[in-house]
Amino acid sequence: MKATRLEALEGGAAAQPASVVVPRHVAIIMDGNGRWAQRRHLPRVAGHRAGAEAVRRAMQAAADAGVEVLTVYAFSSENWRRSEEEVSDLKGLMRYYVEKELDTLQKERVRLQLIGEPGAFGNELYDRLVHSVERTKDNDRLTLVVALNYGSQGEITAAARELARRAASGEIAPEDVTERSIEALLQTADLPPLDLLIRTSGEVRLSNFLLWQAAYAELVFTDVLWPDFDESAFNAALAEYARRQRRFGGR
Ligand code: IPE
Ligand code: IPE
Ligand code: MG
Repeated sequence: MKATRLEALEGGAAAQPASVVVPRHVAIIMDGNGRWAQRRHLPRVAGHRAGAEAVRRAMQAAADAGVEVLTVYAFSSENWRRSEEEVSDLKGLMRYYVEKELDTLQKERVRLQLIGEPGAFGNELYDRLVHSVERTKDNDRLTLVVALNYGSQGEITAAARELARRAASGEIAPEDVTERSIEALLQTADLPPLDLLIRTSGEVRLSNFLLWQAAYAELVFTDVLWPDFDESAFNAALAEYARRQRRFGGR
């Protein structure tokens, strides 16, 4: 078993094997960009720009720690409620970073995947995103899943609608609608189960993120604003996770 940075932090050999102590799949609700900017008397877009830098740090920290999958909530299906200006700024940043970070993804052997409905951001951005997904598909150090125009209720509803369609056409019977058949139609179907969900900025809610997937995830809430999130904040969350006792309903 490879020694992880977390084991080093925890003071040498961990009591449990790394595969138990280090979560395979970590998700982050990256919140607090606006407040970070406000505190500096800067426009909100400055917070989003700083937030994009924090994504690179989190990606690096996750890969170094031996995490397999990092899923980040970048834009929710409810974020369209923001001003046209802010939505357009966010789209601009996505366009910039998808281009700029492709080299980093390759160098760090990070595979990019998407969940949500990113097509809503227009063909140009969508094509660039798909290009990066395609180019990085063989990378094997970390999978970075970016949730773009993602909403968990919408995701579950789409799965239910597909199963209803199959039942109506006689492809399956109503009894074939099971937890497994629903799960297989979620956009996260090919990913390992979610182990740890982190939310920054002190808000304690899920905001329509991975509701099904978080059924037995450990939740960590931190007051750190997303642009200030760094490797030590990430490792603190991993250490908190390592201290938790997961029971899955058993005793
Ligand atoms: C998170 O930061 C980024 C997105 C939701 C796109 P916010 O923009 O929500 O920052 P606050 O919550 O207003 O501080
Ligand atoms: C959740 O943050 C969405 C993302 C981080 C992309 P919000 O800032 O949109 O969530 P609420 O509105 O505070 O619940
Ligand atoms: Mg917010």
